[in-house]
Amino acid sequence: MSGGRKIRVLVCRGPTCGDLRDSAKIHAELERHVDRRGLGDHVILDWQSCFGQCQKGPNVLYREAKGREDKLHLAMAALVGSVKSAMHHAMTPERATGLLDRHLVSWGIRAAATPPALAPGPGHPSSAPLVQSNENHDKKRGPSEG
Ligand code: FES
Repeated sequence: MSGGRKIRVLVCRGPTCGDLRDSAKIHAELERHVDRRGLGDHVILDWQSCFGQCQKGPNVLYREAKGREDKLHLAMAALVGSVKSAMHHAMTPERATGLLDRHLVSWGIRAAATPPALAPGPGHPSSAPLVQSNENHDKKRGPSEG
């Protein structure tokens, strides 16, 4: 199913997201989550210096990885790109890992790995609606997709 596809996750470490809002905790939790869940073949985790949306931070960009893309291109493409991409604002470590799992599955990069009996409940971040995001998908989303 995956065909070697990957998701790139960029955590902003600019002055507002990083220094004032401690986005290092988000990056560290994402790193632990990738290790714990064995997601290393599917996830490229990196930093971004600033997305220009500081007042909404801390911000995290999830984007389907397509070959080599420089970071300036990635920041611009967050809003206008032609691949699956979503910028999320006001992030916490818990939301960041939940949304990583959600995008991996909903974008068809990785099959759901959580058995139904262990699936997160309604209050878990991965089951929350994708609010505060700039979804930018190639295909239209149906009403049942969220
Ligand atoms: S510091 Fe994060 S968007 Fe500017």
